[in-house]
Amino acid sequence: MSNLVITIDGPAASGKSTVARLLAERLGASFLDTGAMYRAVTLAAIEAGVDMSDEEKLLGVLETGEFQFVVKEGKMAVRIGGVDVTEWIRRPEVTAKARHIASSAKLREKLVRMQRQFAAGEEKIVTEGRDQGTVAFADADVKFYLTADAGERARRRLAELRARGGGEPRPSDGLGESFEQIQKAIEERDKSDEDRAVGPLRPADDAIVIDTTDLGIEEVVEKVLRCVKEKCLKRKSKMRWFRFARWCCRVFCNLFFRIQVYGRENVPDEGAFVLVGNHQSYLDPVFCGIPLERPLYFLARDSLWKNRFFGRLISSVNTIPVKQGKADLSAMRKVIGKLKEGRGVCVFPEGTRSIDGRISPFKPGFGLLCRRGEAAVVPVLIDGAFECWPRHKKIFSRGRIDVCYGKAIPAGEVANMSDRQLAELLTDTLRRMQTKSRIKHGKEPYDY
Ligand code: DC
Repeated sequence: MSNLVITIDGPAASGKSTVARLLAERLGASFLDTGAMYRAVTLAAIEAGVDMSDEEKLLGVLETGEFQFVVKEGKMAVRIGGVDVTEWIRRPEVTAKARHIASSAKLREKLVRMQRQFAAGEEKIVTEGRDQGTVAFADADVKFYLTADAGERARRRLAELRARGGGEPRPSDGLGESFEQIQKAIEERDKSDEDRAVGPLRPADDAIVIDTTDLGIEEVVEKVLRCVKEKCLKRKSKMRWFRFARWCCRVFCNLFFRIQVYGRENVPDEGAFVLVGNHQSYLDPVFCGIPLERPLYFLARDSLWKNRFFGRLISSVNTIPVKQGKADLSAMRKVIGKLKEGRGVCVFPEGTRSIDGRISPFKPGFGLLCRRGEAAVVPVLIDGAFECWPRHKKIFSRGRIDVCYGKAIPAGEVANMSDRQLAELLTDTLRRMQTKSRIKHGKEPYDY
């Protein structure tokens, strides 16, 4: 799992490739040029003589082609079927036809998946393209959007073509375009990138936008590096705070409760998972989270943020606000983003605390999060919290709490279940775990 993901998006010739490469070099990070992936599929399709408007055929090219993207001497080398095509994918014909690949939702989905797989194997990564901060890595640690006016970008492209052509552009290389033609082509590509329905070019809401029109590459790299360092410092102190808060919660729980934990080994050490628990008390997120070394993300109703101090406190320990009474798409996107980053999220699908200790049937909505986040699902039973802090009591009392993590359902199995099937399976699993736990501890099991 990547510890640091930096995205750099922007229009053609905004300087993002060079900046991304230099930044990766200085940070000792990997570098992913996602434009090269779109270009490689385009080249393979041209070579295979595929009709560029036939999406299924293009998909076939992506699925059957042996594409390899490797970082070599700080540059991304591309091979198709073992042949190095790093230079070929820069051909003007490829540049012109890449929009067919870029505008297909199915191809984009597959390419984004490949990008995430690539990143998952890297400790630190700088990735550049058009949709890296908005789609592929919506939860990246630092996001940049580089831009520059079209005239300046055309000047840069012309200089690059001349340097590559070793002198004046020659029409036979496709390099014979005038400055005006290059600027027009850049503006057309901007329009096609911005207007497409899927993964359009736009800055992410939380991206740092840098206009590079009047800046040299070094100045941009310095600026970007400064922002990354600032963000990393903040992230480190956030992590320290999280660990301290968890330690405080552990001390608090040891003072007031006797917590017994079972099945901790069922929680995966790596990769996305959703911890699905029964809800008995306000302290359930604490009971589920403190036995684990991996940090968890939680969901809570947005009204808890009305008290600004409390809101900031729970935000600082990874709690995501969810709007009540409607489908909160932004919260869903955040959760799915966390899962796609390979993190753990804890949910209580009863929607509210139990009124009598029994487990009510789970609401099926969480299934979508699990599937879209490609997460394993781990049931977690909390027993004893109702006795310590039932919803009709203002304050808790001391007592024993059992936290049992059940066997994980792998992401592959979750993918094949409907929301309802998953909700029924988990309701049933947790009720059985609860009955077993209550009998074991001499408590009357609930009737279901
Ligand atoms: O950045 P570039 O010029 O190498 O990109 C080549 C093509 O791929 C261009 O048409 C935009 C498209 N692209 C995209 O749609 N999404 C990305 N993440 C990267 C590139």
